[in-house]
Amino acid sequence: MRKSTGSKKIKTAVFISGKGSNLKNLIKFSKFKKYPFSINLILSNTNKAKGLKYSKIYKIEKKIICYDKKIKNDKKILKTLKQKKIKLICLAGFMKILSKNFIEKFQGKIINIHPSLLPKYKGLNTHIRAIKNREKFAGCTVHYVTSKLDSGKIILQKRVKISKKDDRFSLAKKVLKIEHLLYPAAIKKILN
Ligand code: GAR
Repeated sequence: MRKSTGSKKIKTAVFISGKGSNLKNLIKFSKFKKYPFSINLILSNTNKAKGLKYSKIYKIEKKIICYDKKIKNDKKILKTLKQKKIKLICLAGFMKILSKNFIEKFQGKIINIHPSLLPKYKGLNTHIRAIKNREKFAGCTVHYVTSKLDSGKIILQKRVKISKKDDRFSLAKKVLKIEHLLYPAAIKKILN
């Protein structure tokens, strides 16, 4: 991973599929001097992603990529990333699996936030599964992306207590709140 030097911010792309609260939060943190990254591109697999509105609000370029045509689109995305001198990719609620080729080309420069205490609960429906299993804690993890789902090296992790009253919605809300602290801290950790 290229480290930030002095006041130079590392150009970052955020990939989203949904409402983009992590994206919005990362944009906020990127404006602080202490956080060595800037958000220069928002990429989504769908034009229905609500988080795309932050492109207009914060004047950040957006790209929508159809993920059915994998190989062709890999090339397209890689070209855009190169043109924009992107050095870091943050997946934030991006619900598509990146191709092996793409991950290899960006080796060690793609990170993801996952709503569980990995290695527990990889994949989808993490909160329902944690509640069903009567776990005491839930949480979130920022990790490097490899071609094995939710299995790359962990950068930071934070936990939160599951209360008896929690259902998957209240738990998701609790976890999202700590995601917003964890993601910028994890980026700072790998870039400093
Ligand atoms: C977040 O909870 C994130 O951890 C999760 O999707 C949500 C996106 O919220 N990601 C995954 O489940 C990836 N497997 P956001 O769109 O408000 O940032």
